[in-house]
Amino acid sequence: MGIPFVDLKAQYFTIKDQIDQVVSDVIGSTQFIGGKRLDDFEANFASYVDGKYAVGTSSGTSALHTAFTALDIGKGDEVITASNTFIATAEAISHTGATPVFVDVVDDSLLIDPAKVEAAITQRTKAIVPVHLYGQSADMNAINDIAARHSLIVVADAAQAHGATLDGSRKALHGKATCFSFYPGKNLGAYGEGGMVVTDDADLVERMKRLRNHGSKDKYTHVEVGYNYRLDTMQASILDVKLRHLDTWNASRHSRAERYDAAFAGGPVWPVGEAPGRRSVYHLYVIRTENRDRLLDEMGKRGIGVGIHYPLPLHLQAAYAHLGMRPGDCPVAEKAAGEILSLPMYAELSDDMVDEVVAAVNEIVG
Ligand SMILES: Cc1ncc(COP(=O)(O)O)c(C=O)c1O
Repeated sequence: MGIPFVDLKAQYFTIKDQIDQVVSDVIGSTQFIGGKRLDDFEANFASYVDGKYAVGTSSGTSALHTAFTALDIGKGDEVITASNTFIATAEAISHTGATPVFVDVVDDSLLIDPAKVEAAITQRTKAIVPVHLYGQSADMNAINDIAARHSLIVVADAAQAHGATLDGSRKALHGKATCFSFYPGKNLGAYGEGGMVVTDDADLVERMKRLRNHGSKDKYTHVEVGYNYRLDTMQASILDVKLRHLDTWNASRHSRAERYDAAFAGGPVWPVGEAPGRRSVYHLYVIRTENRDRLLDEMGKRGIGVGIHYPLPLHLQAAYAHLGMRPGDCPVAEKAAGEILSLPMYAELSDDMVDEVVAAVNEIVG
């Protein structure tokens, strides 16, 4: 039997009636942009992640770009982020005209290394973008401390971490603004594209709402050059239904991760575990092994879905060659890139399926 890497159909079938109903309601209402359903989802999501306000956007990438732009991050500024993240984090920085500065990650968690952040600060540094990768919080206590001492803005990329906690708190993951993605495979995934910025700053909300809608204050009154970055009402309505199930799904992911962890406790692979004080929502379950490429190949042959997040750190990508960074500049991220493998992880994964994945891993690299 094959085991997919993600199974969005399995999830859909558990909530089919609720989803079909809301889709039909939205079509019947013909309110496809804005309206009460969007406002409700924004309020519900803000409350879920323990923030004051939320601004829906067309994707996680546009959420980051909207937040950076609203915070006046732009040309001449440097923004420090992790080299081990999806490229969208850096693209959103680049699209403001600012320069991303990639730093290495901590070996245990593969999350941004606060010591490397501090060492990378220059006169031009304006912001730090910690990424809550794989579903767990970066070391926000250390990052916030550095930011406060150097008067820097923190914008958190929480695209993979809806509902994660640090020291028991969801609030602890937040920066001045915190950005989420609702890409379909995310823990809270749309049936299309979507994103969200959460903040406690009402002025920032006003600017972000303007920016996402062509810089409009009122219809056809454009006070600045903005974007079409709106979260559409259909996606917001679907996400609002799914939000009610997110705690259950995240708990299920966690228990699947515990089952994997217990099985791998004596080797032959090393899970990227939870760092102190963190509770991960396990967007991805990532293991490390020196035999990664063989494992990748053999798992594929057995029909077990696996992935690499991410195979080439951003400082070595052709898109960022102009920054002049070299192999050896982020040694932890570079080494990890050759060792990491993401195994199937979703709420509907059964114990038997976890056991089958574990058995295959043990057989291939044990
Ligand atoms: C860490 C990270 N940042 C940003 C994004 C961008 O989100 P989106 O695909 O919704 O634009 C993603 C997801 O794709 C991500 O995983």
